[in-house]
Amino acid sequence: MIFDTIHALLRLIHILAAVGWVGFGVFLVLFVDQAYKRLPQEKGRQFVANLFRYSKIDVAMPITSLTTTLAGILMYIYIYAQDGMDGPRIIYLSEAGSYILALGALLGIGAFGHGAGALGPRTKRYLELANAAGDNPSEEQAAQMDAQYADIARHSNISVIMMVLALVLMASARYA
Ligand code: HEM
Repeated sequence: MIFDTIHALLRLIHILAAVGWVGFGVFLVLFVDQAYKRLPQEKGRQFVANLFRYSKIDVAMPITSLTTTLAGILMYIYIYAQDGMDGPRIIYLSEAGSYILALGALLGIGAFGHGAGALGPRTKRYLELANAAGDNPSEEQAAQMDAQYADIARHSNISVIMMVLALVLMASARYA
C-alpha cells in the first residue's frame, strides 16, 4: 500500500514537472519566437530580453527538467526494486510498451543533457549580455544579443523535438 502511494506520488511529480518543462519549451518555440520574428527588430529584441531578464524562465526550465528526469529515474529504480521488472520489461507493460517507455526515457535524458549542456550556458550568456546592455543597447551589444538569441532559438528547436517525442512515447507505452 505504502509502496503504491510512493509510486503514485513520484508519477504525479514526474507528470506535473514534465507538463511545465514541455509547456515552457513549446511556448518559447511556438509563441515567443514567432512574436520575436514578427515584431520590428528592436521591439522583438526588447521583448525577448525582458522576458528572459524578468520572468525567471531561466530558473523554471532547469528546475522542471531536473525534477522530471530525477522522478523518472527514481521511478525506474523503484519499479526495479519492487520486483516490477522482468529483464528489460516492466511487468505491467507489454514488451513493446516497455521498449517504447525506455526509448522515451532515453530521449528525455537526452533533452535534459542538451538543456543543461547547451541551452543553459547559452541562456546564461544571453542574460549577461541583456543585463549589461539594459534598456538601451549599443549597436554592438544589440548585434551580440541577436546572434546569441538566434543560437538559443536553434537549440530550443532541438530540445523541444526531443521533449515532445519523449512525451508521445511515454504517454503511449501503456497502450502498446
Ligand atoms: C521530456 C521528458 C519526459 C516526459 C514529457 C515524460 C512524460 C511522462 C508521462 C506523461 C508519463 C505517464 C504515462 C502513463 O502513465 O501513461 C510518464 C511515465 C513514466 N516516465 Fe516519463 N517523461 C519524461 C522523461 C522521463 C525520463 C528521463 C525517465 C527516466 C529515466 C522517465 C521515466 C518514466 C517512467 C518509469 C514512467 C512510468 C511510470 C508508471 O508507469 O508508473 N520519464 N512519463
